[in-house]
Amino acid sequence: MVRRIRRPRRLATQATMRRLLLAVAAIGCAAVGAASGGDEAPALEPVERLYQQECAPCHGETGEGDGVLVYKLRTKPPDLTSGRYKFKTTAQGEPPLREDVFRSITQGVATTPMLPQAQLSEDEAWLLADHLLSLVRRPRSGKPPEAVEVGEAPPRTDEVMSRGRGLYGQMECPRCHGDRGYGDGPSAYTQTDAQGRSIQPRDLSYRPRKTGDRVEDLYRVFVTGLAGTPMPSFGEALTERDRWALAYYVDSLGVEEYERGPLQSIGEEAVGLEIGTRAAEALAARGGIRPPAE
Ligand code: HEC
Ligand code: HEC
Repeated sequence: MVRRIRRPRRLATQATMRRLLLAVAAIGCAAVGAASGGDEAPALEPVERLYQQECAPCHGETGEGDGVLVYKLRTKPPDLTSGRYKFKTTAQGEPPLREDVFRSITQGVATTPMLPQAQLSEDEAWLLADHLLSLVRRPRSGKPPEAVEVGEAPPRTDEVMSRGRGLYGQMECPRCHGDRGYGDGPSAYTQTDAQGRSIQPRDLSYRPRKTGDRVEDLYRVFVTGLAGTPMPSFGEALTERDRWALAYYVDSLGVEEYERGPLQSIGEEAVGLEIGTRAAEALAARGGIRPPAE
């Protein structure tokens, strides 16, 4: 894979990252006195208290996405009580699986202030996932949701690519994402989310993608939609063959990966780290947001 930096203005410079690292380390030291400390695994906390401590500053006391820190974030937390989850494996309109919520909690959402919540034990993360799902105002009754099936990707041929390019134009992706996918289409700057807050279409040449970096992940997004965002869901409008073609084409739009600083953070992850939550401390202690490549 080509790793080239195309637009350096997006980059947190090495120097900035070094300052950040120091800041995070300082917060870490300051917190040792206050927190329980020690090497032992922390005892399980009642889930509501855990939520109020770890999540409410961003997600809000009731989960509506209006925490006291939200003014610092460009990417806003969703209203979790609405049941509209973006990062899920279930069909459009379906609630997420608890595994989906668990994954967002433990892995975070790349390029956003939603860091992997590395301070939590696995049990705590499951408890929180169930807690979040219990906040949904009108839970759906009936059959439990199921993950959509993503079959095997067809071979990537020239024909598939040109079909994908055609669909990208026909389906009006450029209106928001721009002709080359840079997130700069004519309607890019006037989009709002389900709560009426400003939201930007993604730069599709950017890696990592929020929804995952594999072609299969793109295919899935075209089935699941991105609830709560102005991104249309193409569920039934695309055949399986078309979804693969579009997925391959969109995937070809970006080969650049942004350089990661000492904390391997990019985009708004740096904001999350700067805020200095326990998640930020736990990540700093284990040396970064992602395990090093080698
Ligand atoms: C520093 C702010 C911040 C903190 C702290 C935080 N989050 Fe988030 N969280 C966000 C933001 C912002 C998003 C939206 C990301 C996006 O839509 O791109 C998000 C998204 C999520 C999602 C994905 C929702 C979806 O649409 O699929 C889950 C689940 C979640 N957070 C759970 C938690 C839990 C549980 C905690 C506490 C352990 C927590 N978050 C702490 C900012 C935060
Ligand atoms: C009306 C505007 C709009 C149109 C039209 C649109 N999108 Fe989007 N798209 C968005 C927004 C806004 C987001 C960002 C959601 C977020 O950050 O939470 C997004 C996100 C995405 C993502 C997720 C990127 C990531 O980082 O995970 C993909 C993939 C995507 N769009 C592809 C497409 C394709 C392909 C088309 C055409 C078939 C399309 N979009 C049409 C607004 C649009």
